[in-house]
Amino acid sequence: MNQKPVTDLSSLGFAKFLSWTSLVLILVSSLIMSVVISNSARTSLLLKQQDFATLLAENLNHQIFRRFTLPTIIGYGRIALRNEEQYQRLDQVVQSTIHGLHVKSLRIYDFNSVVAYSSDRSDLGDKDMAGMAVGRALNGNMHSFEIQSSISPILAMFHLTLPPDSFMLRTTYPLRAEQRLGRDALDEKDQQVMGVLEITQDITADYGTVIRLQWLIICTTMASSVLLFLLLVTFIRRSERAIADRMQEKERLERELHQSEKLASMGRVVSSIAHEIRNPLGIISSSAELLLRRPNADALTQKILTAIHDEARRLSKTVHDFLDYARPKSPSKNSLDVAQVLDQALGFLENELSQREVRVERLYEPGLRVLGDKDLLYRAFYNIISNGLQAIKGEGRISIAGIREGGHVILTFHDSGCGFDLTNMDKMLDPFFTTKDDGTGLGLAIVNSIITSHGGELLLSNADDGGAIVRLRLPAEM
Ligand SMILES: Nc1ncnc2c1ncn2[C@@H]1O[C@H](COP(=O)(O)OP(=O)(O)O)[C@@H](O)[C@H]1O
Ligand SMILES: [Mg+2]
Repeated sequence: MNQKPVTDLSSLGFAKFLSWTSLVLILVSSLIMSVVISNSARTSLLLKQQDFATLLAENLNHQIFRRFTLPTIIGYGRIALRNEEQYQRLDQVVQSTIHGLHVKSLRIYDFNSVVAYSSDRSDLGDKDMAGMAVGRALNGNMHSFEIQSSISPILAMFHLTLPPDSFMLRTTYPLRAEQRLGRDALDEKDQQVMGVLEITQDITADYGTVIRLQWLIICTTMASSVLLFLLLVTFIRRSERAIADRMQEKERLERELHQSEKLASMGRVVSSIAHEIRNPLGIISSSAELLLRRPNADALTQKILTAIHDEARRLSKTVHDFLDYARPKSPSKNSLDVAQVLDQALGFLENELSQREVRVERLYEPGLRVLGDKDLLYRAFYNIISNGLQAIKGEGRISIAGIREGGHVILTFHDSGCGFDLTNMDKMLDPFFTTKDDGTGLGLAIVNSIITSHGGELLLSNADDGGAIVRLRLPAEM
C-alpha cells in the first residue's frame, strides 16, 4: 500500500540527481564552449591583423623599392644608410607609408642582421636585436608572425582594462627587389632578398575586445544554466510538497476508512444486539402492565411494577431510535405533498399537543412537492415537532412555515420553547448528544441523516424571541 509514494520519492531523488548532473554538465559544456568560441574569435582577429600586417609590409616593400632603393642606386651607385641623406630619404618614405596605421615600431635589418633602419634611432647598429625569424627571412623564407605579450593570456582575462602594449604582433618580412614588369609571375623565393623588415603593432585593444566577449559568453551561459537549475529545483520542491500532501491525504483517508469500517462493523454488531433486546423488552413491559392491572397488588408492588414498565418502555424507545439511526437510509423517490406528511405527523401528536396546550400554526400551503420517502420524512418531521413540544414548558406555540424558493422547498419549525443551548450548538447533530434526563440524543441525528439522504440540508438556530428554529431545505420536485 505504501509502495507508490516510495516510488514517487525515489523517482524524485533521481530527478534531483539529474538536475545536479545537468547543472554540472551545462556549466562544463558552456565553459568549454566559451573557450572554443573565444579562441576562434581570437584566431580570426589574429588572421585579420596578420592580413593587415602583410598588406602593410607588401606596400612598404613596394614603396621602399620604388621611392628609395631605385632612386638611391641611380643617384649614389649603392645603398649606404650611414649616409644621413640616404637615411632621411628612407625615413621619409617609411613614415609617409605607415602614418596613422598604429605601428609601434619598425626596423630594417641588413644582410648581417644588424639594425640598419629603425623608427627608434637608438637601435641603429645593434646586432643582437634580430631574432630567429629575421635569420629565416634572410635565408629567403616567407614572412612570419609572432605574438609578444607582457602578460599571460589567463591573467589577462582578469584585467578590467589591459595595460597598453600588453599584446604585440611582430611581423617579419623579407624585403625584396621588385622584378620588372612581365617577370612578376616569378616565384617570390627567386627574388633577391635585400634585407628584413620588422613591424611591431600593438593589438592590446583588439585582444581586450576578445576577452570581453569571452566573459560575456561565460556570464550568459552561467546565468542561463543557473536559471535552468533553479527552475528544476523549484519544480522538484513543488513535486516533493505535492507528494507529501498526497501522502498525508492518503493516510488521513486510510485512517477515516479504517474508522468508518470499525464503526460500521460495530454498528452491525450493536444493531443485531438491539434487535435481540427489543422482543424481551416488549415482553417485560407488557407483562408488567398485565400485573399492574391485577386488583390484589399492594402499593409497593405497584410502584415496582410501574418502574419496570416505564424503564422497559424507555429502553425500548432508545433501542428503537438507535435502530432507526443505524439503519442505512436509501430513500425512495416518490412525488410527495409536504403539507400532507406534516399534517400526518401533527395528527399523531394531536393528543399530546392539546393536553399540553401547545398551539400549532400551520403556515404552509398544499402544493409544495418534493421527491422523497414518505415514511422517512414523516419520522424527521415527527422528531422535530416532538423536540419542540419537549422544549416548551407550560403552554406555547409551534409554527411551521413552508415556501418554495428556487429549486428548493424551505420548511421552518419555530417553537416558543427554551431554544438551543448555544454553547453546545456544534454537538446538536451528534448521535447520543442530549441535554434531557430521559433523552436518547438520537432525534436530531436521525433527522439530519434523513434530510441529507434526500439531498437536503438542516440548519439550527435560535429566534430573537428565544425559541428554537429548525430549518429544512429540500430539493423541490421540478
Ligand atoms: N426545539 C428545541 N428546542 C431546544 N433544544 C432542542 C430542540 N430540539 C433539540 N434540542 C436540543 O438538542 C438535543 C438533541 O436533541 P435530540 O437529538 O432530539 O435528542 P433528545 O431529544 O433525545 O435529547 C436536545 O437534548 C436538546 O438539548
Ligand atoms: Mg428528540
